[in-house]
Amino acid sequence: RLPYTTLFRSRGPVRTRFIVGNWKMNKTASDAGAFVHRLSQELPHHAGIQIGLTPPFTALHAVREALGPASAVLLGAQNLYWEDKGAFTGEVSGAMLKDIGCQFVLVGHSERRQYFGDQDSWTNKKVLAALRHGLQPILCVGETLQDRDSGQTDLVIQRQLRAGLAGIEAHTLPTLTIAYEPVWAIGTGRAASPEQAVPVHRLIRRTIGELSGTDIGNHVRILYGGSVTPHNIADFLASEEIDGALVGGACLDPVSFATLVKVAIGSKPTTV
Ligand code: 13P
Repeated sequence: RLPYTTLFRSRGPVRTRFIVGNWKMNKTASDAGAFVHRLSQELPHHAGIQIGLTPPFTALHAVREALGPASAVLLGAQNLYWEDKGAFTGEVSGAMLKDIGCQFVLVGHSERRQYFGDQDSWTNKKVLAALRHGLQPILCVGETLQDRDSGQTDLVIQRQLRAGLAGIEAHTLPTLTIAYEPVWAIGTGRAASPEQAVPVHRLIRRTIGELSGTDIGNHVRILYGGSVTPHNIADFLASEEIDGALVGGACLDPVSFATLVKVAIGSKPTTV
């Protein structure tokens, strides 16, 4: 018989599932109250998974107020700038996000990379700034259709990870969350199949392990994003490699988002 400690260790860390609703540039501060009220009505009190929302900057305060201090729903921002303050017109710092009640922040979302020029070196500065301010970064990575068709997926993902996580202390790595969002699956209604996503999740975990030189990759949560709906979420979470989802379109209606979360609650947590 195996000693208890070996049995325990062989079960590995439990990664709590994380479902994040990214509002993108949708909804005003005035819309926030009704959304949160409806969502709270729909969600069970003890979900056993983490749930997060990333409203636009202008609605952060309203969502924080509507959630109230006791809410288990985490508040996040969609972006941040790496300097703490100063003459950077139009930007918002980690210190400001922390002050308004954010707990996490998206970094390097493909729409930032595509439309606003966010480069790997910037995502790195943003990840470091988030950590400096006690905000949990969710680093988003993903290949374009052209990358995938030309067999570059692994290279692109590894480049985004290595650059985005450069200089991060190894002991901090387990607190990170990575979101794998293939660009071609975002907002297209054409989700990646679990068969397409799982190998990339494995690659991400392996790459983080290599960066840290340990099994730390097993602790990092890796979410899938790209046309996730209440109908396909269970297929993704059926894989031990997929620890949750970053949801766009399907989170804009509180009942649809709550349905998706409820399906996720019904799925097994991951032990590795
Ligand atoms: P959709 O769910 O609308 O495809 O968006 C995914 C996404 O980009 C979440 O950040």
